Amino acid sequence: MTYFIGIDVGTSSSKAILFDQLGNEVASAQQSYSFSQPQPGYAEQNPDLWWNAVSKCLRELVHASSVQKEEILALGVTGQMHGLVMLDKDDQILRESIIWCDQRTIVEAEELDRLIGRDSLLAITGNPALTGFTASKILWVKKHEPDLWARCQKILLPKDYVVYKLTGRHATDVSDASGTQLLDLKTRDWSPSILTTLEISRDLLGTVFESGDIVGNISMEAAQLTHLSMLTQVIAGAGDQAAAAVGNGIIKPQLMSLNLGSSGVLFASTDQPLVDPKGRIHSLCHAVPNTWHVMAVTQGAGLSHKWFRDRFYGGESNKKFDLNQIMEQEAGSIPLGSEGLMFLPYLMGERSPHLDSFARGVFFGITPVHTRAHFARAVMEGVAFSFKDCLEVMEYLSIDAAEIRMSGGGANSPLWTAIITNCLKRPLRVMRDKEAGACGMAILAMVAAKAVPTIDDAMKLFVHPGEQVIGNPCDMDRYNRLFPLFQSLYQSLKGSFVQAHQLIVSD
Ligand code: XUL
Repeated sequence: MTYFIGIDVGTSSSKAILFDQLGNEVASAQQSYSFSQPQPGYAEQNPDLWWNAVSKCLRELVHASSVQKEEILALGVTGQMHGLVMLDKDDQILRESIIWCDQRTIVEAEELDRLIGRDSLLAITGNPALTGFTASKILWVKKHEPDLWARCQKILLPKDYVVYKLTGRHATDVSDASGTQLLDLKTRDWSPSILTTLEISRDLLGTVFESGDIVGNISMEAAQLTHLSMLTQVIAGAGDQAAAAVGNGIIKPQLMSLNLGSSGVLFASTDQPLVDPKGRIHSLCHAVPNTWHVMAVTQGAGLSHKWFRDRFYGGESNKKFDLNQIMEQEAGSIPLGSEGLMFLPYLMGERSPHLDSFARGVFFGITPVHTRAHFARAVMEGVAFSFKDCLEVMEYLSIDAAEIRMSGGGANSPLWTAIITNCLKRPLRVMRDKEAGACGMAILAMVAAKAVPTIDDAMKLFVHPGEQVIGNPCDMDRYNRLFPLFQSLYQSLKGSFVQAHQLIVSD
């Protein structure tokens, strides 16, 4: 028997899963952590937090199973996208990573537009200037921390740092690299014109691979630390959403997935780059050669749920599983619509369909009748409404699917999946393996190791669309009637978000 590992470097935890060649999960390990917010709108994590978590998970995997380490042929790493990791000449970390949901680069995103031109940026990278993506973070460091910038010799993305620690190679893959705004979406390589304009040397960046290409083997140092064999090969990997899409079987058009992790992402694969002229959804390279994808990102999806749970259900010191259950039970006891309470999930600004770093979370319609349980349900409903907002943009671009495959931690909540299916008016197919990212990595690793001839063959072993969640027409109708109010709240508050930001800045 041969084995493959999928690793997912997430925002709230890192996970590693060992699969056998038949697609069965043999062992798994997880290490949780959090991110720091030195100022409102900032979000940072130390890259060694990820590496320590991953190396611990790998040691646990090797010891928990009776597998011989030489039988583990290949592994793949996926992870949170867009984070800026800076290394010095000795490959030492220069600063905390500025991660995907950080919103400090509003000015630098505007500067990107000015320097490159909005139309050129959209045409080359597939996306308008975004605070969440890496390029604006680089401009911020150049401006605010010039001494650190002068010492920077390598820029990596979060999962690429882990691949570097595993192999000693500075590499990246097309799907993650296209989330930097430094990659040419069509050529699937760094854009010479963007690098020249932003004065970023190509030598600073990792070599770009297709996601399933082999980057190298486990180094001696990593083998000692992780207890893996130096014979195990490491593929380039993929950004978390592209990886989850592979794990959900979304590598061809006409299928759509919803991955409900820290962020919430509606995802569809395309044969060509498909760019929304208004930039409301992202257009990126997919983890399969010659394919691309579009995705709509609700920044504060699982993040909103976790925030509410941790702040109002007794804090992180309590057992997470129980808190999720209590929140689920309480929210389930409240009628649809939370008796007039509505939540806008813009805790960390928003990307889809509103490109708005100023946006903030809102509870609307509070009355004395409302309890903690109402707020809990409103959080779940607000995230579901945001997905509906995103689906409208997908439909506008003629992308739709009769059924949506759902994965991620949020897919474990029967209440949330029911709310989402009713809001979206689409049946959901909850995937048997919710850890779609790790699963996607094992699929690509298996193909890279030539254990199966094609991705389609590997997907037959790994991709198991599970139980279908079918909505209730009456509930669908009621959510449909509430939705215009949800949409109008953002429009009414748009100016107030900017005003609030200016007041905080001038304080
Ligand atoms: C995608 C995105 C998130 C993060 C964290 O654009 O920002 O998916 O990768 O999950």
